[in-house]
Amino acid sequence: MTVLPLPPYASNTYRVCVIGAGKVGSTLAQRLVERNVADVVLLDVVPGLPQAIALDLLQARGLEGHDRRLIGTNDYADTADCDLIVITAGKPRQPGMSREDLLPINARIVAVAARQAIARSPAALVMLVTNPLDAMVYVAWQATQLAPQRVFGMAGVLDSARLQAFIAHELQVAIADVSTFVLGSHGDLMLPLPRYCTVRGVPLAEFLDTASLDRLTERTRHAGAELVHLYQRGGAYFAPASSACAMVAAIAQNQSRLLPAAAYLDGEYGLHDIFIGVPCRLGRAGIEQIVTLQLTDTEREALHHSAAIVQANVQQALSGLVE
Ligand code: LAC
Repeated sequence: MTVLPLPPYASNTYRVCVIGAGKVGSTLAQRLVERNVADVVLLDVVPGLPQAIALDLLQARGLEGHDRRLIGTNDYADTADCDLIVITAGKPRQPGMSREDLLPINARIVAVAARQAIARSPAALVMLVTNPLDAMVYVAWQATQLAPQRVFGMAGVLDSARLQAFIAHELQVAIADVSTFVLGSHGDLMLPLPRYCTVRGVPLAEFLDTASLDRLTERTRHAGAELVHLYQRGGAYFAPASSACAMVAAIAQNQSRLLPAAAYLDGEYGLHDIFIGVPCRLGRAGIEQIVTLQLTDTEREALHHSAAIVQANVQQALSGLVE
């Protein structure tokens, strides 16, 4: 049986290269094509895996009703001319592990993947999903030597979505009415900003007492670990894939959305030479604007504390790479 070749890519089609066909990468690839956001090249080092996922999803195309192209490959040559590279490759956490435990192994995987992919798509943006997130963005930036606006990470959208879900569930209100903002590093020191959380514009304090709010923000901080514990093998992937998909859509469709992303700071928030979660305007050029919020002293201290941990992680990751 011959497999019919797919029609060539239309030249104006937004193409995303997803590196890593694990749970997050494959679910992201599925969301991107089934929501008609972009065509996808799914790459993994495991022979057959990305090809199987692409073929399986191809067979669902008529049922899901989309015309997006998805190819699976083990060869970086097939990723040429993508507009956006999303790196999900890396080891996931196992129960009892922190995101930082993944530093040395994932830094190597990310540096190689970023270099290989950008060589084939020199005009692309690079978005990181691999943990520990904020340090991995720095590693990919160093590996590719791109302008910092073209490299960023997904975490704040996920952390904000988790807080949004917990608040909507607690208050039994429509999720669409709940708006949340979580900044800082993707880890236990993330910075939920209740002052910027609302239910249809009404400040959260009108609905929730401090103790309840603290309970929900604590659950958000540990939401990744809660899922690692439940899954027993690896971490969350549905919500991370949805979060990455939302960011890709914002960029591919130039939606001018204001989303938290791990972006390069050069003085903003009093921080230098670091990628960490801040509110950004995302667009076809990548990080088109960083929005500087007025933080209270306590919030600023918390942000700087999490930044210090990120900087230590970056040093550890980079020194591991030159060994
Ligand atoms: C989590 C992982 C993806 O937060 O960091 O679930």
